Amino acid sequence: MKTPSKESSDFRYNTGDSKVPWDAVAVKPDIGLTMDLLRFLVTAGEDAESYRCGMEEVERALEKVFRVGRPATKLSLGRNVAGVEDLAREMLGVKHASFVVNWTAGYDIALDMVGVKADDEVIIPAITFMATASPVLRKGARVVFSDVQRETANMDPEDVLRKITPRTKAIVPVHLGGYPVDMDPILEVAKKKGIAVIEDAAHGFGGHYKGKPLGAVGDFGAFSFHEVKNITSLGEGGIVVTNDPLGEQFAKARFVGFDLRTPPPEHWLYNITANDSRNGIFAAGNFSTTEIQAVALHRQMRQNAEILSARRAVAARLHDTFSQVEGLIPGPMDSADFGATFHLFLLRVDRKIRGGIQAMKAELANHGVTQIPHFCPLYHYRIFEQFGYDREAIRKACPNAEAAFFEEYTHLPIYGLSPQQVDYLEKAVVEAAKKLAITKP
Ligand SMILES: Cc1ncc(COP(=O)(O)O)c(C=O)c1O
Repeated sequence: MKTPSKESSDFRYNTGDSKVPWDAVAVKPDIGLTMDLLRFLVTAGEDAESYRCGMEEVERALEKVFRVGRPATKLSLGRNVAGVEDLAREMLGVKHASFVVNWTAGYDIALDMVGVKADDEVIIPAITFMATASPVLRKGARVVFSDVQRETANMDPEDVLRKITPRTKAIVPVHLGGYPVDMDPILEVAKKKGIAVIEDAAHGFGGHYKGKPLGAVGDFGAFSFHEVKNITSLGEGGIVVTNDPLGEQFAKARFVGFDLRTPPPEHWLYNITANDSRNGIFAAGNFSTTEIQAVALHRQMRQNAEILSARRAVAARLHDTFSQVEGLIPGPMDSADFGATFHLFLLRVDRKIRGGIQAMKAELANHGVTQIPHFCPLYHYRIFEQFGYDREAIRKACPNAEAAFFEEYTHLPIYGLSPQQVDYLEKAVVEAAKKLAITKP
């Protein structure tokens, strides 16, 4: 029988086709592990007996496969991770892409590469996930909150202009719910003043702005593949991209500064070097991803266009219906310049709804309709007080964020619903609006 060809070595332990191979250092995936993974992915449902029979069949089939196949040797940073990065570069038309443990890790690398250091300022929108702020605080830099536009809850470019100071090092537009930020005014002022633009495209994979893929519009961009995003690398994952030549150092920045180009110390395998930034050097962290995550993500990246069109179809239907109901204002749909990913469906109400969005949310909850407004303006979190931020002053400087979150908007989940669930959702929102409508005397 022909021996299956073996990967001769790990890139670090280049020992050729060894008699004692490098991968003798760790346990290999086997049938038991594979079955556990499968049981984790598909747990027993209502018909437990059919589930048990099905799993037994799978196990028998796996035994056959394992008899003739061989376990994966490389589990981290191998050819599948590289495959995800190749595909990202191709889909997004960027020079550099790195698959990392999550969006936050990619953003951390981008902040380091643009040279954000202690006492610098980074402008982020008031409404976003905390991860847009935390790495800035961790570097000892200051978060500056820009107000948002009421129509989208996205960063307001006009307010960004007001909040720029000589210390501003980066601006971080967040494509909230996958709806693109109006990038041109931000890019224009950033270029004039030498400020970096890092896109938070956590919700934006597959969206576009004026013909360019989201994430590839600014200097750096990062995507999230956490389990509640449109596509996921099995729970956690992110990709950071750039066209900046600094992106050549992504691999090093992702993995402790591991450097095969620089001669290693005597009797050792590799060297470790600092990463370059726009402002000096920095030491890398370790944000490496696994091959299993990459296999899952690669498949979903290829399915992304199909997923987006299914989302778009539900969004279009809800948009049409809600536009015709007094008091409801659905978020904007796609246009030639703004291509959304419909990660979240934005639903706003106006003053014709008694009790505003809080009453609407309670009414929808009574109907069993889940909705999560993304997000509470960050300055309401205690951490900012602990870091010495003046909440009242920031609140006053972000009036739209206050009004949007407390009075006007929520988000609805729209993917993977059965046609009956879409009908139910649509009807529940319309009924709630009618019930809460302020009828004129
Ligand atoms: C707007 C936004 N930015 C950043 C993140 C962080 O992504 P990750 O969990 O992949 O680090 C999230 C995650 O929910 C997000 O919603």
